[in-house]
Amino acid sequence: MIAYFLLLVVVALVQVVNTHESIPVSCNSPIYCEGPLLKTVQLARLYDDSKTFVDMPTSKPVDQVLEGFKALGDHPGKEEIRQFVSSHFAPVASEMKPYNITTSGPLAWSDKVDDAKYRGWAEVLHQSWARLAFQFDTSSLCDGCVSSTLPVKRPFVVPGGRFREFYYWDSYFVIEGLLQSGLNSLALDMIENFLDFVDTYGFMPNGARIYYLNRSQPPFLTEMVNLYFQKTKDVDFLKKALPVLDKEYKFWRTNTTVTIRHNDRKYKLNRFNVENHSPRPESYVEDYNLVHHGPQALTPKQQSDLFSDLATGAESGWDYSSRWTKHHHQDGGDLLRSLNTRHVVPVELNALLWSMETYLADWYETYGADLTTDKQRRRKTSYYRKQAHQRLDAMDTLLWNDTSAEFFDYNLTSHAQTLQFSAAALVPFWLGAVPARARTPAALHRVFDTTHALLRQNPGILTSTAVPTSMQWDFPNGWPPLQYVAIHAMRNVDAWLDKDRYEGLAKVLAQRMAASAYCSWYLTGGSLPDAGLTKLANTADNGHMFEKFDVRSLTDSGFGGECKFKYRHEKKGFMQLFCMGGGGLDTVQVGFGWTNGVALWILNNYNDLVAPDCTSNNIYPVPDLN
Ligand SMILES: *[C@@H]1O[C@H](CO)[C@@H](O)[C@H](O)[C@H]1NC(C)=O
Ligand SMILES: *[C@@H]1O[C@H](CO)[C@@H](O)[C@H](O)[C@H]1NC(C)=O
Ligand SMILES: *[C@@H]1O[C@H](CO)[C@@H](O)[C@H](O)[C@H]1NC(C)=O
Ligand SMILES: *[C@@H]1O[C@H](CO)[C@@H](O)[C@H](O)[C@H]1NC(C)=O
Ligand SMILES: *[C@@H]1O[C@H](CO)[C@@H](O)[C@H](O)[C@H]1NC(C)=O
Repeated sequence: MIAYFLLLVVVALVQVVNTHESIPVSCNSPIYCEGPLLKTVQLARLYDDSKTFVDMPTSKPVDQVLEGFKALGDHPGKEEIRQFVSSHFAPVASEMKPYNITTSGPLAWSDKVDDAKYRGWAEVLHQSWARLAFQFDTSSLCDGCVSSTLPVKRPFVVPGGRFREFYYWDSYFVIEGLLQSGLNSLALDMIENFLDFVDTYGFMPNGARIYYLNRSQPPFLTEMVNLYFQKTKDVDFLKKALPVLDKEYKFWRTNTTVTIRHNDRKYKLNRFNVENHSPRPESYVEDYNLVHHGPQALTPKQQSDLFSDLATGAESGWDYSSRWTKHHHQDGGDLLRSLNTRHVVPVELNALLWSMETYLADWYETYGADLTTDKQRRRKTSYYRKQAHQRLDAMDTLLWNDTSAEFFDYNLTSHAQTLQFSAAALVPFWLGAVPARARTPAALHRVFDTTHALLRQNPGILTSTAVPTSMQWDFPNGWPPLQYVAIHAMRNVDAWLDKDRYEGLAKVLAQRMAASAYCSWYLTGGSLPDAGLTKLANTADNGHMFEKFDVRSLTDSGFGGECKFKYRHEKKGFMQLFCMGGGGLDTVQVGFGWTNGVALWILNNYNDLVAPDCTSNNIYPVPDLN
């Protein structure tokens, strides 16, 4: 009898656990995920951006929405569909409201900034978090109404533009900026939202939408926890985070590991890896057309591979890039049809996982005592140490190229390195995921002397050197997070070399990044009356921060036809404002979370930078190396 009772208790416990674990981890809404409603509405092209529809909450309960859709019959016309949407859906973002940042006084360190214009601009950036901070609030939605947002308890900061929800890897750079702004509790809120997500879904989704549940993004959560921990030394927080980071680690390990045979040995590394059989709801029309309307018809297997490789490209955060395509030229077909994302082992993903393994080992060793038994703690510490060790060994053998003195991605189709430069190759030097062979002064000199030479030719760190592919994660774009990574990498390398060889170069890069962001803000109407920066005539807006920049010098003009804020300037000294190339979206994203974060970090770390006069030549020459 007692045994029977115990058995019941055990069964009940198992059921509780199962219910928790069985929260659907793929898109399964009859409205926002693959199904006849989504397909009909998206292919009617009511909006320029496929993302608009899937971000609209319903204005009627779900069953009424579905009935309304059924009533449309088999082949509704565009006007009927428009009518259906307007009578059953509410405007985008009705399920969130602005969050009042109550603790935000003036920026604490602005006195340290020498230049009056940069001082004023830093204050503008600091205040701009208020425009990007939101909280989830469904009080304006009817009973039974739904939205595609994945609810969170705490406030959050979004990138801006069409990105109305928070994103995974973007948020690292946002959190960096919030910490620069002294908004520690908002940074903590964001991290805790992510920890809740990992707890609920078993991994960190790409962003806070149901249609992002099929994939993650570069694993930056451990880096966020570290950033916050370094700033606050909050050990209790770290202890709370540790078991959740374990869980995230398990996801990457289980879902994305590949075993590579090389010279009779087996190595384990990771790649981005999403299984998907339908157009991404937020890019429905683009994916649908790519797969169904190309120059050649695809077999069902090819279609499904392409859907998976598209979603995997989005998981990489580099959507899209020549790193993932078999072809690098637009040769009549669409480049994206040659995506091979799941067969590329990316260098930054493995550097991030090495960093995760290393922090988890360190943190369990140092702070794990109250979390678990001594034996468990030692087991976990040595498990993570071993994973980190094996990964570095695999990176050394498969990703590092000693002849080129460079990290490359590894191509699982050709079983060879890609031999193409991308800024991702600098991530190991930022995070410290560098095998002994690559850490010698000679190797470090070769890696960063090349970077030095590249910066003589281009004002910023190029995303990749592939010929213009019109994809946004390629030449000629430079992205703020990649500049941040490069600056950190150079500072680390100086520390390893124990001299100031690259300090000047890091500073020039910081200067150029800051100048580009500042001038694009000024040229779109930004002003600082107190610092003598008057608003430019003919600017309707009040200054925008952009998500990415063009690092080309001026001579090329084949790009950016649709750019609203197109701006070309006769100067080479800093990155220029970029407008959209093809392959991405055709509107400029303004806001912008990671650019603000990186700019604040630069201004706080390089106090003596001087704001350029954005209307005349300002060149920041690359210094000689020490
Ligand atoms: C998510 O994955 C499942 C199974 O892998 C797939 O059937 C579904 O179409 C995917 N959903 C989205 C939104 O991509
Ligand atoms: C946020 O601030 C605005 C303007 O100061 C105010 O009208 C609003 O009530 C505040 N909202 C909350 C939730 O405190
Ligand atoms: C991870 O893999 C498991 C097991 O194959 C699968 O059920 C789950 O959907 C995958 N998660 C994601 C986000 O792809
Ligand atoms: C990988 O190797 C294959 C086979 O050699 C090649 O066609 C492809 O361009 C390479 N790169 C990618 C990203 O697939
Ligand atoms: C390393 O790079 C060189 C080009 O610099 C290339 O010839 C060589 O094949 C690469 N090594 C490996 C192991 O891929």
